[in-house]
Amino acid sequence: MSSFCVVILAAGEGKRMKSELPKVMHEICAKPLVNYVVDASRMLSPKKIIVVIGRKRPQVKEVLSKDVRVVYQEKPLGTADAVKAAQKEIPSNVEHVVVLYGDTPLIKEQTIRFLIDFHKEKSVSCTVLTTFLDHPRGYGRVLRNEAGQFVGIVEDKDASYQQKNIKEVNTGMYCFKKDDLLEALCHVKPLNVSGEFYLTDAFGWLLKKNKRIEACVVEESSEVLGVNSQKEFIEAAEIIRRRILEKHMENGVSIMDVSTVFIDESARIGAGTIIFPLTFIENDVVVGENCSIGPFCHLRPGARLGNKVSIGNFTEIKNSEINEGTFMRHVSYLGDARVGKNVNIGAGMIVANFDGVKKNKTVIKDGAFIGCNSVLIAPVVIGKKAVVGAGSVVTRNHNVCDGATVVGMPARLITESKKKSNKGKA
Ligand code: UD1
Ligand code: CA
Repeated sequence: MSSFCVVILAAGEGKRMKSELPKVMHEICAKPLVNYVVDASRMLSPKKIIVVIGRKRPQVKEVLSKDVRVVYQEKPLGTADAVKAAQKEIPSNVEHVVVLYGDTPLIKEQTIRFLIDFHKEKSVSCTVLTTFLDHPRGYGRVLRNEAGQFVGIVEDKDASYQQKNIKEVNTGMYCFKKDDLLEALCHVKPLNVSGEFYLTDAFGWLLKKNKRIEACVVEESSEVLGVNSQKEFIEAAEIIRRRILEKHMENGVSIMDVSTVFIDESARIGAGTIIFPLTFIENDVVVGENCSIGPFCHLRPGARLGNKVSIGNFTEIKNSEINEGTFMRHVSYLGDARVGKNVNIGAGMIVANFDGVKKNKTVIKDGAFIGCNSVLIAPVVIGKKAVVGAGSVVTRNHNVCDGATVVGMPARLITESKKKSNKGKA
């Protein structure tokens, strides 16, 4: 696609969220709202992605990736003013500017592409993406003349009773000819109920100058939901959560109850794996093929599970590698650990990885058997095919040799390995 850049507006106050956290930083499936829009834009390979953030809320910059250009809007004076703040960063060699809002996380790359293609094909000054909503409250309404041509947008707050009945709404996504946009911005005035500089008022000026504006309609209205309140946030979150589950199901993962399984954006799960209800799989988790996960399981960042691993109820795993064929079926915690193949972890095992100051590592080698209700105090190594008896507390640095059996609190050696491969003691 030729010469265009994307400007994403994310400097609004988000007052309707009633939250201290800037609106666009609220996370859905562990990804901030604004990054859904950034990621969809990036897939179109624009010349540049510019994100406008508020001077008073510079923390938004922390969640943005390095490849986007951040500009500040000094005060939230309205969407037209926000685009103005981005003006100096718009490359001179682009022909078109796509403007998106940072609070519409459901937008898909294909839809923005459709907008740009439509705009170029019609060769108009601006194309507005619109959709039809049964309940259009809160959105700007699309005004058309008797011939059906686009004549403007009226904001919900400014709409007359009759205009409020219009079901076609502005999605807040536009493709402009750059030169026309920049010129129109100079003429937007805050002549409305909120006293803001509305980007939607740029259309009036363009039409006055006999520029052509088209509205193109997107049928999938759920894609353009704007998140303004906590209620809309949860509606968007539900759609995104469902999309993620469907992606995994397409890849051959069985999800036994789509209403209670939560999987973050970047988790990877192999085919043939079954996920039981009430399971949470967070970002940066990898689950292999043919695993069984849950019910009531919490896989946190850094959990890496090989193939045929079975993780059952009331289990939590964080920053740990678990290799093929290992079982951890009941009530256990594993953090900062490396667990080998075919290990059996009994009910109630806890790895005590945190000593109050730092996190320590636990290693459980291939074929080990960890009895019920045992505590492994890190740092500690449990050798190959070693056995830790039920109720044992293996204290820090008291490594268990390959093949040895330990029991008690603190765990003491009762059977040495036949091979006596090293001198560690329990
Ligand atoms: C806006 C549109 C409305 C449309 C709706 C679609 C305007 C005037 N209205 O209304 O027609 O139906 O989106 O979702 O554009 N922002 C800034 N700086 C500001 C103000 C806003 O960066 O000074 C950003 C916000 O962070 C947000 C976006 O612009 O991401 C839209 O602002 P918002 O206040 O949510 O506009 P809506 O009332 O939803
Ligand atoms: Ca909005």
